[in-house]
Amino acid sequence: MDGAALYNGALLNHFAVFIVTTRDLPPRRISVAPMLDWSDRHCRQFHREITRHSWLYTEMVTTGSLFHGDIQRHLDFNAGEHPLALQLGGSEPAELAHCARLGEQWGYDEINLNCGCPSERVQKGAFGACLMAEPQLVADCVKAMKDAVSIAVTVKHRIGIDDVQSYEFMRDFVGQVAEAGCSTFIVHARNAILKGLTPRENREVPPLKYDYAYRLKREFPQLEIIVNGGIKTLDEIDAHLQHVDGVMIGREAYHNPYLMAIFDERYYGDAAPVKTREEVLVSMIPYIRRQLELHGNGGKGLRLNSIVRHMLGLMTGLIGARAFRQTLSDSKKLALGDPDLLLEALQRMQGLSAYVRHQDNEYFSKKGDA
Ligand SMILES: Cc1cc2nc3c(=O)[nH]c(=O)nc-3n(C[C@H](O)[C@H](O)[C@H](O)COP(=O)(O)O)c2cc1C
Repeated sequence: MDGAALYNGALLNHFAVFIVTTRDLPPRRISVAPMLDWSDRHCRQFHREITRHSWLYTEMVTTGSLFHGDIQRHLDFNAGEHPLALQLGGSEPAELAHCARLGEQWGYDEINLNCGCPSERVQKGAFGACLMAEPQLVADCVKAMKDAVSIAVTVKHRIGIDDVQSYEFMRDFVGQVAEAGCSTFIVHARNAILKGLTPRENREVPPLKYDYAYRLKREFPQLEIIVNGGIKTLDEIDAHLQHVDGVMIGREAYHNPYLMAIFDERYYGDAAPVKTREEVLVSMIPYIRRQLELHGNGGKGLRLNSIVRHMLGLMTGLIGARAFRQTLSDSKKLALGDPDLLLEALQRMQGLSAYVRHQDNEYFSKKGDA
């Protein structure tokens, strides 16, 4: 087993000494995707209230932002977020090694290199998906990072770029990077189109080819292969797990987070009671209150909306979910900065569902009369 998998460093405070503890990390059967502007620490804290064992990934953090920006702002996370991976964007081996070391010192459990982002801004920095055309450079980056840290170094990539459709292109990329020491690959199973499609279109238009990821696992059984892209239901997850080691979920986890409530039991064998949606909601209130105290800066810093926005999907699929979302999106109420707004949203929703149930009953009793 990768020795890094047993390592976890926890930083007491950012100037202080590291306390290194060892703890078993769960397998990457399920992970929540890195999502720029979405999977920030508040979002991850919320997801962690729903699933204890699934892996969480940060948004992409570029090496430039760690060299020139506010390191603490980019790297800080909440103590309960483990198992947690830091995704880096970059293409310069020495810089990536330095940032990977920072990530390990900060207490992350894994460093992931982004070789899948198609955005023009990222291409200008010559990293992201365009790195798939330079497997030797990626291998050098991985080697430099592996030499710098003892935690796992993983790669998230596409199955091809632009009009390259052959499986062999991806296979050779993975083979070369694996030789440099990477043993976990997260395959977003569609091509990245570097010119002409927006990042959003790049998550929807190029067709999904899961069989490329399956074949990769067959041909490299010693590697850990995680499939990603368009996965939405438990049945789909179960089907993928017949072929690969793990599944990464992005948008569905964000928009319908309660899907994850069953993950611990179903995929990690943890029979501990599952929190209800209401319990998840209520458990976030003290967290939000504390965050606003620490970072709210009298209304000039962190805002209630910065946390609550990630929770709008919690009631997806239930009667009253719309009323719940509306209450939590009301700018006047949000401006008051009171986390009890979550309870108000819940009450409004419950009132509405009671009303709808009442209407249903009346409807059915009338039908019964007829
Ligand atoms: C808002 C948003 C931001 C994203 N940002 C990143 C990112 O920072 N790094 C990355 O590797 N992928 C990023 N992605 C891509 C996702 O990680 C994932 O590969 C993609 O959404 C496909 O998975 P899904 O269909 O389950 O959402 C982003 C996706 C979304 C929706």
